[in-house]
Amino acid sequence: MVKAIRIQQTGGPEVMEYVDVELGTPGAGEVLVSQKACGLNFIDVYFRTGLYPQALPGGLGMEGAGIVEAVGADVKYVQVGDRVAYAGRPTGAYAEARIMPADNLVRLPDSISFETAAAMMLQGLTVQYLFHRTFPLQGGETILFHAAAGGVGLIACQWARAIGVTMIGTVGSDEKGELAKAHGCAHVINYNKENFVQRVREITDGKGVPVVYDSIGKDTFIPSLDCLSPLGMMVSFGNASGPVPAFGLSELASRGSLFITRPSLMSYTAKRDDLEQMAAHLFSMVESGKVKIDIRQRYPLSEVAQAHRELEARKTTGSSILIP
Ligand SMILES: NC(=O)c1ccc[n+]([C@@H]2O[C@H](COP(=O)([O-])OP(=O)(O)OC[C@H]3O[C@@H](n4cnc5c(N)ncnc54)[C@H](OP(=O)(O)O)[C@@H]3O)[C@@H](O)[C@H]2O)c1
Repeated sequence: MVKAIRIQQTGGPEVMEYVDVELGTPGAGEVLVSQKACGLNFIDVYFRTGLYPQALPGGLGMEGAGIVEAVGADVKYVQVGDRVAYAGRPTGAYAEARIMPADNLVRLPDSISFETAAAMMLQGLTVQYLFHRTFPLQGGETILFHAAAGGVGLIACQWARAIGVTMIGTVGSDEKGELAKAHGCAHVINYNKENFVQRVREITDGKGVPVVYDSIGKDTFIPSLDCLSPLGMMVSFGNASGPVPAFGLSELASRGSLFITRPSLMSYTAKRDDLEQMAAHLFSMVESGKVKIDIRQRYPLSEVAQAHRELEARKTTGSSILIP
């Protein structure tokens, strides 16, 4: 038996129960991972509330790091005793130990601690694909990135600086603005006080930006389109304020033949080769010191409800982890 979080139904933070679950033994293609740390991500809120559907009762959490304790038949890539980490489906990472598909796991270099790995796999791989695959940045661009002081945001600030990209970051408070700046964000806009479209136009001498990375969704979607230069790319990769409402395609035409994509990490890591290349890139960024994973909140796994409350209330900054 191990401790894990289970939900019987979707709802508020109170639906998460800290319970004993029976583990069993890994089947074909599966491994048993004893977890040292689990990641806390905004996507966990979407699964908890039911915005993203899953079978119930079920687990929550999509990211963790630990040691492989047992392997089933036909397991490739990892063996017993390996230090590993992962980000992705199936949910169930909020647990002391779990049985999961081996294909999602990557082996950790000794230089990367379990806590750092649990804090960075989902958010760091996301920045990797957003900056190098969805809209490959060459260096020299000025970009708009929303929620710059969040988990994905603080990694993006540092990564942008490292590759010579000028990042304009939006934040919900002046304190968060200072934090984003300290992590390499060139310009910060407090969107609770300032009109971010106007400010982006000022910063770019009226030209607008070639790409917007928008994880806020409902509240920022249309104004974000107004920040793009003609033929620009709208990358809508999250819905922290709620899902993007339906809109007419003519909104893209009238702003100068814009492009739009709605990416998810899981499609970018679906092929093993891609996952390994992306993880290697992330590890090298962290090992070089160009990107430091700033774990600003740590919670015991049993206090996950408090962690969700703070995340949803915009009280967290940087990355957060849960300790089983
Ligand atoms: N598609 C993908 O592959 C992918 C992968 C990873 C993450 N994501 C998305 O990226 C976003 C960031 O994820 P994260 O885990 O790093 O979370 P986070 O940025 O640490 O937290 C979300 C932030 O969004 C901002 N926000 C704006 N309006 C909000 C609202 N109404 N309610 C709550 N927060 C609001 C808040 O920052 P301010 O106070 O500064 O506004 C808040 O701190 C999420 O939308 C997530 O779903 C997408």
